[in-house]
Amino acid sequence: MQPKATSTVGASRADLSASDLEFVRKLIRDRGGIELDADKGYLVVARLQKVVSALSLGTLDQLLAELRSGRRRDIEEAVLDAMTTNETLFFRDSHPFPTLAEKIIPQILADKGTDDLTIWCAAASSGQEPYSLAIVIQENFARLAREGKVRIIATDLSPSMIERCREGRYSRFEVSRGLPPEYLERYFVPDGNDYVVKDSLRSMVDARTLNLTGSLASLPRVDLVMLRNVLIYFSAQTKKEILNRIRTLLRPEGYLMLGGAESLVGLDTGYERISFDRTVVYRPG
Ligand SMILES: C[S@@+](CC[C@H](N)C(=O)[O-])C[C@H]1O[C@@H](n2cnc3c(N)ncnc32)[C@H](O)[C@@H]1O
Repeated sequence: MQPKATSTVGASRADLSASDLEFVRKLIRDRGGIELDADKGYLVVARLQKVVSALSLGTLDQLLAELRSGRRRDIEEAVLDAMTTNETLFFRDSHPFPTLAEKIIPQILADKGTDDLTIWCAAASSGQEPYSLAIVIQENFARLAREGKVRIIATDLSPSMIERCREGRYSRFEVSRGLPPEYLERYFVPDGNDYVVKDSLRSMVDARTLNLTGSLASLPRVDLVMLRNVLIYFSAQTKKEILNRIRTLLRPEGYLMLGGAESLVGLDTGYERISFDRTVVYRPG
């Protein structure tokens, strides 16, 4: 008998056979480059159940049958979206943001010799990272912000996260994670139980869906790429391919920044590692 990944939903019990789990893992790998752990079947079941409910598909078996038929692109998209892990917070890891303001961005502007800047948040999730950057720009480069010289492109594989990013609406809990109270006051408007970003901030962020495993041709040349806490989901080969494509997009004076716990060690990508105080960035070689 095949081992089953199980979860209990309401009164009914939902199971996923080993071959179903493998089918879903392959689909997610092929479509999003994401490697789902084979021993996290319970997580896959829980996330699939959400799609069953959201699309009123009745049962997990019906969802799997539709997926296997390949007829319903919308279901495939919803499953891919549901399999993404979107954990994020404002000013994540803290130290990169003052270093960006005081050292990295001034260095880029000096090396370029111009006063325009294009930043790409390549796994923006629900928007806390691009809005943190927009605040850094407003606070430290007010003239550039006023004159519309800074463009922040926020992309993510997940359409639901990009929708949230565009909306810029955050719960009390979300704004309590990493956002200093004075910035909440200055850049957000309370609305019911939520806080919504002011237009001055939202207008700096251009949010769109983009799959990092696909073509980057829709993007302009960029000065700074924030590729934080996303490479962990990919195989070494996929990481290399993505990093190579990003290199062709980065201007020679630009930098790539990864998440606080990530590095390019062992990937042989040809980027040069540079430290600005505690913050590590990579220059295209
Ligand atoms: C853990 S979040 C990181 C958010 C933010 N960068 C941070 O550090 O707080 C990872 C994000 O990567 C996105 N992602 C996963 N695979 C992707 C892919 N192939 N292309 C683009 N985004 C992807 C997920 O949808 C998710 O929102």
